[in-house]
Amino acid sequence: MSKVSFKNDYGEGAHPRILQALIDHNMDQQAGYGQDEYSLEACDLIRNRLENQDSEVYLLSAGTQTNLIAIASILRPYEACISPESGHIATHETGAIEATGHKVLTVCTEDGKLTPDLIEPVVSLHADEHRVHPKLVYISNPTELGTVYSKEELIFLYDYCRENDLLFYCDGARIGQTMVHPEIALTLADYAKYTDAFFIGGTKNGALLGEALVVNRSDWQDHMRYHLKQRGALMAKGRVLGLTFQTLFEDGLYEDLAHHAWLMASHLRRGLVALGVHFLVNSSTNQQFPILPDSCIEKLSEDFDFYVWAPVENGHSAVRLITSWATRKKAIDRFLDDVKNALPLCN
Ligand SMILES: Cc1ncc(COP(=O)(O)O)c(C=O)c1O
Repeated sequence: MSKVSFKNDYGEGAHPRILQALIDHNMDQQAGYGQDEYSLEACDLIRNRLENQDSEVYLLSAGTQTNLIAIASILRPYEACISPESGHIATHETGAIEATGHKVLTVCTEDGKLTPDLIEPVVSLHADEHRVHPKLVYISNPTELGTVYSKEELIFLYDYCRENDLLFYCDGARIGQTMVHPEIALTLADYAKYTDAFFIGGTKNGALLGEALVVNRSDWQDHMRYHLKQRGALMAKGRVLGLTFQTLFEDGLYEDLAHHAWLMASHLRRGLVALGVHFLVNSSTNQQFPILPDSCIEKLSEDFDFYVWAPVENGHSAVRLITSWATRKKAIDRFLDDVKNALPLCN
């Protein structure tokens, strides 16, 4: 039997309805570079959810590309961004932002989340032209640790940024998790109101590929298609992104897929808690970080793929388990059974 993977939420292809839409429209002749009717309709569908007349939507192919184009398109040469130390742009994007000439100033956080109190010292320190000028605050919601900013926390950060002449940008690679989370229940309209720009992740939520960048300020939208083209992100076959986002947003499929991943993670978490397992962080999204004995991890690795995240103590490590739009409940039940059998032999 092949291994079941809890390594990521993009291990499967795409939701069948997206593939069907590609097949159904395969022979239609369409304009290129995002001017096809599906992309225009997809952007309209998203814009209708934003309740912000000023917002503009752009379809891109991947997360790193979206972060770097969004950020590099607005910053002046000497401006920098502030990110949590664990932020994706600071840890897993090969210095993509720095490669565009903008420093990423990192801030230590306990749970991956920034607060005005954590940002303030960075802003105060960078007070003259001998240092870079912090201009943009980067967060992701959820964070790399699966923790989530509530609406109040988002507003608090947004207000702080406005008062301090900072731009507020949210990486939404897994934004669906914050929309279906019953206690958070953020809407796309909230993000359009309380950020300057954000993106809606498709890659990790059932799309074949793609992210929808939403820019809520007109000065940030200026010549965006030039920025996209210059950095290789304006795709002649933009119709693939168009059909993808049209399918995801025409009748709630986007939320349904995020909800499935969330339900599977909740089932996994409940099962592990019942077995007495502790967690590295309190994540209620599709990323879970249980702490297990190393010998148990080794045993589980025979049948399951997952990341060993960090050593903890006394021969224990935290692992990262991710559920997706396609995760099957029986795979989780099998995993829980294996943990149940392995734990008594390992402790
Ligand atoms: C929060 C976050 N942002 C951005 C990215 C980058 O996406 P990509 O790998 O498509 O460039 C990832 C990928 O894992 C991510 O988790």
